[in-house]
Amino acid sequence: MRVDPRLSGYLSRALDHEMAAVQQYMSQALLCDMWGMSDAARQMQHEVEEELEHAQRIMRFMLARGLIPARTQLPPVRPGRSLQDMLLIDRELEIEAIHLYDEAARYSQRIRDQEALHLFAQLLQEEQQHLASLDGWLQELARQGVANG
Ligand SMILES: [Fe+2]
Ligand SMILES: [Fe+2]
Repeated sequence: MRVDPRLSGYLSRALDHEMAAVQQYMSQALLCDMWGMSDAARQMQHEVEEELEHAQRIMRFMLARGLIPARTQLPPVRPGRSLQDMLLIDRELEIEAIHLYDEAARYSQRIRDQEALHLFAQLLQEEQQHLASLDGWLQELARQGVANG
């Protein structure tokens, strides 16, 4: 089956994003654990699992279309020096994903590829939820900061 070249580009970028997100959240989970912040470590580990599941979903789609996942380079991790710093960095990552999936979903709609549209629209919605949960977490930290200060 011939795959639309621009669609296959979006799939590759999507896989890059998800693998980078796994590496990022995994590093942060380990750092939180080293800093003795076990609740934050657990929450970061939960993000690792969600992003890993996204990567699997994209790979399954690629393989079903005869595309071989072959990403070889990931951007360096930006670990952050405090929990708040980490969450601000992660916000940027999620916003990039939202832009990517929004564009990919609109393109899929334009070429009338319903399966690709479903994949990207679902991912878009889940990344929007990730962003909302990061924002909730940041607000909670800010409240605690006020309470402690
Ligand atoms: Fe993701
Ligand atoms: Fe995400």
